[in-house]
Formats: sequence, C-alpha cells, structure tokens
Amino acid sequence: MRINPTKCVAEIISVLSYISDVEGTRKLYHSWKVAILAKNISERQINDEKRRDLFYAALLHDIGGISLPFHIIHYLLRQEKVYRNIVISHPIVGAGLTAQIPQMNAASKYILDHHEWIDGTGYPRAKTKEFIPLEAQILRIADAIDILLQSKKYSKLALLIKRLKKNAGREFDVKLLDKAIAVLKQNRLFDRITDEKNIVGLFKHAFAETGFIHIPRRSDAVGKTLETAAEVIDMKHPYTAGHSLRVGHYSMQVAKAMKLSHDDITKIKWAGLLHDIGKVNLERKILDKPDSLSKAEYHRVQEHANLTNEIMNLITELKFLAPIASSHHEYFDGSGYPYGLKGEFIPLGSRVISICDAFDAMISNRPYRKNLSPKTACSQIKKRSGRQFDPAIVKIAIPILKNL
Ligand SMILES: [Fe+2]
Ligand SMILES: [Fe+2]
Ligand SMILES: [Fe+2]
Repeated sequence: MRINPTKCVAEIISVLSYISDVEGTRKLYHSWKVAILAKNISERQINDEKRRDLFYAALLHDIGGISLPFHIIHYLLRQEKVYRNIVISHPIVGAGLTAQIPQMNAASKYILDHHEWIDGTGYPRAKTKEFIPLEAQILRIADAIDILLQSKKYSKLALLIKRLKKNAGREFDVKLLDKAIAVLKQNRLFDRITDEKNIVGLFKHAFAETGFIHIPRRSDAVGKTLETAAEVIDMKHPYTAGHSLRVGHYSMQVAKAMKLSHDDITKIKWAGLLHDIGKVNLERKILDKPDSLSKAEYHRVQEHANLTNEIMNLITELKFLAPIASSHHEYFDGSGYPYGLKGEFIPLGSRVISICDAFDAMISNRPYRKNLSPKTACSQIKKRSGRQFDPAIVKIAIPILKNL
C-alpha cells in the first residue's frame, strides 16, 4: 500500500474534527474555527513547531465531549447542570484520545488544559496562570471566542469584545486577550469568520499553511490513528461502545483465515474500523429508539452508508477504502443498500465486514432487543448465507466468530 503516513494522519485528524462538529444535519465548524483563531492569535507568540501542535490540538480539543447528545458548546453556553460529568471531564478524555495518536503528545497537553482559567477557577485541575502553557491559554481564548460567536447575541464585534473583556484577568491573560482582539480586527478576520460560507476556504488555507505533523516512516501511525478514530466513532453513540473496534478486529481475523495478502488484510481491518463513520450525523433519538423505526427514520439510518463513503473520500490518502467501508450493508443476493450490488460486485472486504458487523450487532444489547449468544448469532448468519452473506466467507468466518 503506497500511502504517505504524514499526510494521512493529518487528514484523519481533520476529518475527526469535522465529524465532532456535526449535529444532525447541521455543521457547526467549531473546531475548525477555533483552529483558525488559535493559529492567528499565536502568530509571533510561539515558534512554528508549537503553533503547529496548537493547531492540531485545536482540531481535537472537544473530541472528549463527543458522547454528549448535542454539541458541547450548547452545554457551555447554557451552563446546564445536565451531563456535568462529561462536560467537566472532556479535556481529560480528549487528551487521552489524542495522546494515542503518534506525535500528538504536545497537542494532548494543550487539550488537557484548554478549560483552565488563569485565576485558578477553571477545570479539570484548577491550575493558575504559571502552570498553564501559553498554548493552552491561547486555545482557551480562541475557544471562548467561538463559543460566544455560536450564540447570535455576539454577532457584532463590539459586543463580543465587551463580553470577552469581562473575563480579562480571570479567564484570560490581559495582554493575550488584547492580542486576540487585535487579531479579530486585523484583515477583517471577524467578518470573514462569522460568515459561514467562508469557513471551509479559511480552514483549507490555514491547514495548508500549517503543514502536517511529521510522522516517522515505518511506524504504524496510520493504524493507530484509525483505531483512535474508531473509538471516537463508537463514543458518539454510547450503546455501540466498542463496535467499530471489534468489527475492525474480527474482520482482520477473518481476512487472515482467508489467507489474503498482508495489504488486503490491513485494508479490510482499516475499512472495518471506519465502516460506521457515516453514523455520526444520526440523531440520538433514532438510534436509541426502543421500538421499530418509521419509514423516514429507517431511511435516515440507511443514509449512513452513503455518508461513510462521502466522509472517507475526504481522507484522500485512504480514498481506496471508501467503497469497501460503505458497502457493508449490501446483500449477496443484491437486495441490500446503498447501491443494491450483487455477489462478486460487492467488494470482497465489504463481504467480510458485513458478516462481522452483523455478528457484533447480534451479540450486543440494543435498545429494542437483548443480545444473542455467539452460538445463536452464528446460526443466524448461517441461515442468511447466500441471501445476505457470501457463503464461501461464511464458512471461513463461523469457526472464528464462534470462538471469540
Ligand atoms: Fe472544550
Ligand atoms: Fe470548544
Ligand atoms: Fe452500518
């Protein structure tokens, strides 16, 4: 497989930040905007390498809050008490996830401190100014700016500045805040960033200018980053905890037993890890519904396969996995979705993933039914062999799945 790991890891991170800001059919672009702001505020404050770490930290800063039913900014704006534990711990969870990605150690530390206030009243550690890295202080200001911008109350620059200044010396360092305010005024950044249609362009530009974090060759950086991505996908909907990771793992086992090449095994595992990435925009109320879905809701669920395809195409280095990952609901007899592919027209990897996906779904509890035993799940798969699943792969997969 010829991929550039440095570019690939950067692209996976930017996609993770993108999906963490999807709320149903809305895109909030919070982390992209925070990254743009942090990049501008940090100019001439810290060296280029640290600015790059800060940019990537900004992209993932709220990833630890992904299990909330709505985007974390709503809870911060309304200062609600519900889900307080998740809100308070999101810097710790986010730092932990980020640290699993190679070369993201510095970024992970900034994430840990991104809600600390210089007067020591922030969280999770109530650190005071001298213990908070400058990068984390910049991240705090950039984050605070976009949280305020997401509420229509501060759509005028003067009002935003007035609100930010209220917290000078408490939440933010006075001089750093002055710098941030100057940056908002410079080159009409405030006007540009508050107009949604500019954001993708602004982000692409900032991303290209920042460059990638360097990943040493011959490391399994891409694999590790994808495992983290799978964890993030699984966190989005708590009842699916661990599903993507398990499907990736089972699919790899089955692919090995099929005696495929090392590259093919890796591809199938990676596609398995990301197969449900398109579920990130599904409303919690649909996935958690205890009874059967309406036609419209079922349609929403089916859309995830297409969205998996779309999102995976954003990771240009892994584009070749998009058809494998997004065809996991195709049926061998051609009656599946999204394309209605039949038999050998379904990518081989998808035929493996589809069995592992169904198996894991059956052995897991769902809001609408209790879990089956691995043995019962296997006999269900056998029953659907030839109709839903490729019979040749079922034969190889059953002995493996039974013993898991
Ligand atoms: Fe946050
Ligand atoms: Fe944030
Ligand atoms: Fe799926």
